[in-house]
Amino acid sequence: MEVEHRKREMSFLLPIRTSTALALFVSLGVPTTSRDKADRQGTARAGEEQLAAAGPTFYRDVLPILQEHCQVCHREGGIAPLPFETYEQTRRYAAAIRIATQEKTMPPWFADPWIGHFSNDPSLTPQQIATLAAWAVAKAPAGDPRDAPAPRRWAKSWTIPKPDVVLKMPEGVSLPAAGDVEYTYEIVPAHFTGDRWVQSAEVLPELRANVHHAVVYVRPPDSNWLRHAPVGKPFTASTLTDPEDRRGAHWTDSDVLLVYAPGSSPDSWAATMAKFIPAGSDLVLQMHYTTNGRAAFDRTAIGLVFLKEPPAQRVLTLQLTNDHFVIPPGAPNYRVEARGTLPNGATLLSFFPHMHLRGKRFEYNILHTEKPADGQLGRRIEPLLRVNYHFHWQMSYRLAEPRSLKAGTELQAVAWYDNSRGNPHNPDPDAAVRWGEQTYDEMMVGFFDVAVVANQDKRSYFIRH
Ligand code: HEC
Repeated sequence: MEVEHRKREMSFLLPIRTSTALALFVSLGVPTTSRDKADRQGTARAGEEQLAAAGPTFYRDVLPILQEHCQVCHREGGIAPLPFETYEQTRRYAAAIRIATQEKTMPPWFADPWIGHFSNDPSLTPQQIATLAAWAVAKAPAGDPRDAPAPRRWAKSWTIPKPDVVLKMPEGVSLPAAGDVEYTYEIVPAHFTGDRWVQSAEVLPELRANVHHAVVYVRPPDSNWLRHAPVGKPFTASTLTDPEDRRGAHWTDSDVLLVYAPGSSPDSWAATMAKFIPAGSDLVLQMHYTTNGRAAFDRTAIGLVFLKEPPAQRVLTLQLTNDHFVIPPGAPNYRVEARGTLPNGATLLSFFPHMHLRGKRFEYNILHTEKPADGQLGRRIEPLLRVNYHFHWQMSYRLAEPRSLKAGTELQAVAWYDNSRGNPHNPDPDAAVRWGEQTYDEMMVGFFDVAVVANQDKRSYFIRH
């Protein structure tokens, strides 16, 4: 039904996502037991009935919420199977919308609301949830179409502003009907004669349903990475003849331009910062495809919007990785951690945790060392993000307020895995699980984006002064 996953590594710090399941429905789990709960539900119901009497209508009250929080996926050509753009499309799902929003399964978002604030948090307010519920309870009245907000215009295909440049895979990728597909690479020459600063970037697969993640790397002209690999043609690591290329396929310190997974919003940075593509670079796409019973063909495109002037800061994607763990068979809550110390100051922008099918939770922390009055060194953990990991939905979490970090700041990423039978996604609870790129292997990567001064690249950033 559903497969999953991806890969990517690197030493200290670098990004990703995923999803897609065409399982509509929504069991109407009628809750149980406690009187308390029944009371609470009674009260909630009474509140909904009041609101329903006040009469939320589709055009006046519901459509603005859908435009703002749902249509990015629920629209013609979006990744969700149900478009919610018109009354006719939406009305029969009123009850499902009520349940999905009350249970907070929609819109998808997995961060602990008590830790951190994120600018891309799509969560509804309690008021909005109540409005959708009241509308469903009132049997989904249409109301007056003249109350409707102007339809939201989605660019035909791009979510970012109209790209200055669109780079398409020169040659598409044929996918088999079934089985695992090795990570597929394609080197796409950008042909930029000058340096470029990228303000927004988006990956647009032709075959959304089969792309479980894509990473786009920038290969500068002086990099030896995959130098003997074919250009403009899809290939996999095992087809490479040069041993160094083959080893290097899954290991690079090239900067990441962006990471794509279904449901993820494209990357756009503040006006003062951008990703850098040196003149003469190639973009290297790493695609993780999954099969779904039908042979298919994909030609993914990348859209780029440039800054006209160089910005003050450059955005680098770093990562905290642990690739030498062994998750014992059956372990329900196995902990793996990675730490790193920032060699230089940086502004922390966003997080992107990445695991596979046994992923359960992921967190990022700052480890503070403190010297209290008694002279004993103390440790204080400051949580930055807590995520209930969901392998369908790998998302980035962008800090509402970027955080400036000093050189020497110690960062920690902690991942928990469920290798027990209790994990419905577990492909083999009897296996001892190690790092690997297929779904049945695991990964532990805490990607995060930082802004540094514009003339620093990844290599110079890691020089300690
Ligand atoms: C990031 C993309 C995305 C956003 C945003 C989103 N959805 Fe969904 N939605 C999906 C996908 C994909 C599915 C198909 C099932 C799945 O993969 O979970 C889905 C399924 C649903 C379903 C079918 C039943 C279910 O729960 O699976 C309902 C109802 C729904 N969404 C309502 C909403 C509403 C209401 C909003 C906005 C408040 C919303 N969704 C926002 C992607 C999204």
